[in-house]
Amino acid sequence: MDVVVADIELEAAERVRDELLALGRRSVAVRTDVSQAAEVEALADVAYAELGDIAVLANNAGVTWRPYRASWDASIGDFEWIMGVNFWGAFHGHRAFVPRMAASPLPAHIVNTSSIATLKPTPGHAAYTASKAAIGGFSLATRAEYAAAGLGIGVTVLYPGPVQTGFATSERLRPAADRADARGVVPWQTYTDGEPMRAGAETPGAIDPAAVGPIVLDAIEHDRPYAMTHPLPPYVHERARLLTELSPHPPVE
Ligand SMILES: NC(=O)c1ccc[n+]([C@@H]2O[C@H](COP(=O)([O-])OP(=O)(O)OC[C@H]3O[C@@H](n4cnc5c(N)ncnc54)[C@H](O)[C@@H]3O)[C@@H](O)[C@H]2O)c1
Repeated sequence: MDVVVADIELEAAERVRDELLALGRRSVAVRTDVSQAAEVEALADVAYAELGDIAVLANNAGVTWRPYRASWDASIGDFEWIMGVNFWGAFHGHRAFVPRMAASPLPAHIVNTSSIATLKPTPGHAAYTASKAAIGGFSLATRAEYAAAGLGIGVTVLYPGPVQTGFATSERLRPAADRADARGVVPWQTYTDGEPMRAGAETPGAIDPAAVGPIVLDAIEHDRPYAMTHPLPPYVHERARLLTELSPHPPVE
């Protein structure tokens, strides 16, 4: 495909653009802070001007905090930054692209990256889990909305497990102003006898990002509501069991 690559780090986007150009595709790199609505609108303008109709939108930019910390040790800025990139970034993507996708006769597809962290309890990671769970709920509703309105736009929620990327270093991208109200970071292991919390790229057994590509492509081609890179955490079954046990009978529609 021809691809517009957006990232807050322009050089990172340019590296991917150059790979695509070397494959003989058209590609453009655009520096974009997805937490800013105006920047995502401007990105959509560039995308439609450069490539015409957009078939696939991947809302994939994401950040996390390190070290892991308790919600009560987190600052307002911690939450605002993570929600801003992870949830509002995906929202801004929908808002900027969906009207133009809907106006096109061609089918389109949106992939929103959530996380396996939302499918199991993840202590020390509340802001991230909240932001990624918001993506799950938003995707569930918008997929149904687009289908009900006959827009021809599919939505997939991608739930990655651990993947070998530079993800754990994302605090480097945090605007300095966001740190203004930080109270001083208390590592999560302060509360767990020194046992550190590891996730994502730091986890033994994290997979190669190249293995995720075919999974996402399959979800787009088959308009799947979900894409998974790893086995389903057992907690999902436990949650289903508890909800079933506690729900009124007969089931309420
Ligand atoms: N790596 C994992 O183990 C893992 C697990 C579950 C979910 N995820 C999710 O996968 C997605 C991709 O992450 P990744 O693992 O490839 O990490 P990554 O750090 O390599 O990629 C994330 C990209 O987002 C960009 N970014 C950060 N803030 C931005 C902003 N404000 N505007 C635009 N771009 C911004 C970064 O520059 C980076 O290139 C993220 O949403 C992440 O939450 C990753």
